[in-house]
Amino acid sequence: MVRLPNTLLAACGLLARRALGALEVNLDDQASIKAAAALVAEDLLTFYHGDEPGWVPGILPGPPPDGDYYWWQGGAMWGALLDYRHTMGDKQFDDIISTALLFQVGPNNDFMPPNWTASMGNDDQAFWAYAGLLAAETGFTDPPADQPQWLALAQAVFNEQTHIDRRVEGGNCDWGLRWQVYRTNNGFDYINTVANACYFNMGARLHRYTGNQTYADLAEKTWDLIERLGYVSDKFDVYDGAHLPDCTEINRAQFSYNAAMLLQGASFMFNTTNGNSTWKARVQGMADGIKRVFFAQNGIAYEPSCEPPPGKCNSDMQSYRGFMHRWMANSIQMAPFLYDELMPTLKTSAAAGVKQCTGGANGRMCGFHWTSGVYDGLTGAGLQMNVLGALTALVMPTVSAPLTNTTGGTSKGNPDAGQDKTQLPTFAPITTGDKAGASILTILIITGALSAFAWMSLD
Ligand SMILES: *[C@@H]1O[C@H](CO)[C@@H](O)[C@H](O)[C@H]1NC(C)=O
Ligand SMILES: *[C@@H]1O[C@H](CO)[C@@H](O)[C@H](O)[C@H]1NC(C)=O
Ligand SMILES: *[C@@H]1O[C@H](CO)[C@@H](O)[C@H](O)[C@H]1NC(C)=O
Ligand SMILES: *[C@@H]1O[C@H](CO)[C@@H](O)[C@H](O)[C@H]1NC(C)=O
Ligand SMILES: *[C@@H]1O[C@H](CO)[C@@H](O)[C@H](O)[C@H]1NC(C)=O
Repeated sequence: MVRLPNTLLAACGLLARRALGALEVNLDDQASIKAAAALVAEDLLTFYHGDEPGWVPGILPGPPPDGDYYWWQGGAMWGALLDYRHTMGDKQFDDIISTALLFQVGPNNDFMPPNWTASMGNDDQAFWAYAGLLAAETGFTDPPADQPQWLALAQAVFNEQTHIDRRVEGGNCDWGLRWQVYRTNNGFDYINTVANACYFNMGARLHRYTGNQTYADLAEKTWDLIERLGYVSDKFDVYDGAHLPDCTEINRAQFSYNAAMLLQGASFMFNTTNGNSTWKARVQGMADGIKRVFFAQNGIAYEPSCEPPPGKCNSDMQSYRGFMHRWMANSIQMAPFLYDELMPTLKTSAAAGVKQCTGGANGRMCGFHWTSGVYDGLTGAGLQMNVLGALTALVMPTVSAPLTNTTGGTSKGNPDAGQDKTQLPTFAPITTGDKAGASILTILIITGALSAFAWMSLD
């Protein structure tokens, strides 16, 4: 064997290290953004094992204590990858996405498989419906005719959540959608923004895709409720929610995904009303509010209710900002007047997101604390999704807007999906793991949020 001189060995080492180095991207060059996003997507999928023997297709490892991720994060990841696919034109994950979504459909074709009902929130179910909606809106390959179709799956979720079983009847919280689906779960009496905002968002998008006015009416009714309860303040702060019986003691924690899904839904309503001035004011207000609350630190995404020391964002909360970036960009597509206001922020924030991706064995895994400028040692699917979402958002306004059933969308709907009476199957026996998972989530979110509030207000 030939012995290489030391200097040459050192040079090889340097080269190798550079090849493995931090994520690098020129944010003024779409080809560079695409190349970087492809690496982030590849690294994201290292957290997914559902395509390997012995693992469950569709979900990330979990739910706790069996792994880090709740069921909804799987749906959220397929949504992130569908947006990435449409925006960047990278179709290499098509089979994995299709298989995953169809595996988690459940016996009633409604994204409510019995395995996960014990910790099922309306928001959890909606994140899978979002993936179904995105599949329809981005022209993702339709499943074979004998399988459930993307649009029909989203309609099933929406229709089930319209049902009175999931809602409050009478009193100040009238028409409020409950957080949890089942009365046996903690959170059945929590009327929170995320559940209602998810429903609003689905309604606005179903309306645009199908042209069915009923969806718009239900979306508008939900916006009115959220506003009447004061969950969105007159300054467009977006609070977490409140409990029965009155929905008056509002938990004022603010999380970026709540505000962003309201912005996105409002931008769809603005678009389908051809620029109605009431919706325009709401879109403008939400956009201003999001910039003020979630980009206050030099224009870089930040979760004010759990990120300031000594706060601790759980793995759910750590993943919100990726959604925020994507939904802001999608809002620009629906309401182009937002472009000048939001694009510079999306770019500044994406640059900070990319900059801290220097972790892991490959030297390019992403952490959570974007404002710090350095990798924080954290790792996870949500953290990869965040940077993937931030890069996707930079290109999204240049690609085609969401399809509708009159502009090339081919997904077949079923307006009656999920409408049958027997929509709440008798409760599957709860395993200890499931029950603990569900209530731990509740306790984490509620006490986490409350203590954040106490901390802020006592400050
Ligand atoms: C439900 O859990 C069982 C047991 O882990 C698993 O085999 C099955 O694939 C799961 N189904 C879904 C839809 O997650
Ligand atoms: C679009 O969906 C609506 C509502 O379901 C339906 O009435 C209409 O026929 C559909 N249009 C097309 C072109 O499929
Ligand atoms: C519109 O949506 C409503 C609510 O889901 C449904 O009952 C109705 O059948 C739909 N109409 C059409 C034409 O699809
Ligand atoms: C609605 O969205 C389309 C597609 O992006 C866009 O061309 C149009 O200008 C939007 N409408 C309004 C009122 O902004
Ligand atoms: C705009 O939308 C609001 C809310 O739906 C409605 O009250 C108002 O009548 C609409 N304005 C016009 C000019 O259509």
